Amino acid sequence: MTLLRLLLAAGAATTVAAFAQPNSGDAFAADPRADLAREAALNLDSKALYMEHCASCHGESGDGKGNEELERPARSFLLGGYSYGNTQKAVRRSVIHGIPGTPMPAFGATLGTDEINAVADYVISLGPPGTIVQPGESVLVVEDRPLVVKGMMPAYEQGAFREPRSLIVGFPNGTTFQFRAEDSRLLTVRQGEFLDRRDWGGRGGSELQPLGTLTWKASRESRDFTEFMDADSGQGLRRKVKRTEIKGDDVWIHFDLLDQDGTRVGGGQEFLSFLMVDDVPVPMRAILGSGEGRGIALREVAGEKAGANGAINATITPDGMVACVLDDAPNMRIYLHAPAWTPSLSLAFSASLEKKD
Ligand code: HEC
Repeated sequence: MTLLRLLLAAGAATTVAAFAQPNSGDAFAADPRADLAREAALNLDSKALYMEHCASCHGESGDGKGNEELERPARSFLLGGYSYGNTQKAVRRSVIHGIPGTPMPAFGATLGTDEINAVADYVISLGPPGTIVQPGESVLVVEDRPLVVKGMMPAYEQGAFREPRSLIVGFPNGTTFQFRAEDSRLLTVRQGEFLDRRDWGGRGGSELQPLGTLTWKASRESRDFTEFMDADSGQGLRRKVKRTEIKGDDVWIHFDLLDQDGTRVGGGQEFLSFLMVDDVPVPMRAILGSGEGRGIALREVAGEKAGANGAINATITPDGMVACVLDDAPNMRIYLHAPAWTPSLSLAFSASLEKKD
């Protein structure tokens, strides 16, 4: 059955999209002079590494004025302001994984751990002392696997409500998704540190503190949008979260599909993963549903047609995402948190789908 194949396909996409892991210094392993080599590595000329890999964008002095033309400026390191976390770990994470939606590439596959640490420490040293902080005791850190937390989140914009039941999913690359817990509508995406569990200090009822920078938020309309509808009546079907699951590098949200009366008419999954596009990670969500006894269909997504590539149709949503529908998977929609359907994105996306066979 095509759907199942595609689900597997989409699952396979995640192998391609697997996070770049830093080389663990294996190069030294077999060498009898390993210790000497390691020592040399630790004395790496961090400035030379910086000049080679970073200066073209961040500038030779670290002032953010490199000679590469960028659609958004690279960070100046001289003032010490960090949007994606100002702990040593956070700076290293930015270098290892890159920053989604910006030109900042991932170096996890090109530089070794020692080199990454050296160059991260170098850029930190360009800023004023005291910029780098130790995380407080209630700060939750995502290590090498995704983390799922439930709790109350503050309103994310003026006029929005605080969300008493949020489902918050953090990834090792610093991306955090915030869903409404009961129906898994995505509310925000943030980049940087994960969460401060200030609620642990309170007597219950206090909010979690998101620590990352807001990079995406749902529009009013999309907060109430339903992807699926009853094929006959056209009525929207509501998702009701059953459970979440961490599978390798990805997170799956399993849900029931309910009609207006609250009757279960089917079910499905949303899974969260990343596509590597020109070395920069792009958040990807694939949502798949199927009916039981009743036919269900995908609802049109509003937006401007962005392009097509074989059996893939892409639309740019007013929320600034690319929504893809595949001809042979009529009940699956894939959201790419990318601002445009570019040739590189199209290539990476198709490649990840082809990997299925
Ligand atoms: C192709 C251009 C490019 C290259 C090469 C590059 N960067 Fe970046 N980097 C950027 C851009 C652009 C940003 C800002 C992202 C944004 O818009 O917030 C950035 C952001 C960062 C940040 C996050 C700063 C923050 O606000 O938290 C760090 C850390 C960083 N770069 C380190 C490095 C290091 C170290 C290297 C070399 C190993 C490097 N970058 C190479 C373009 C680049």
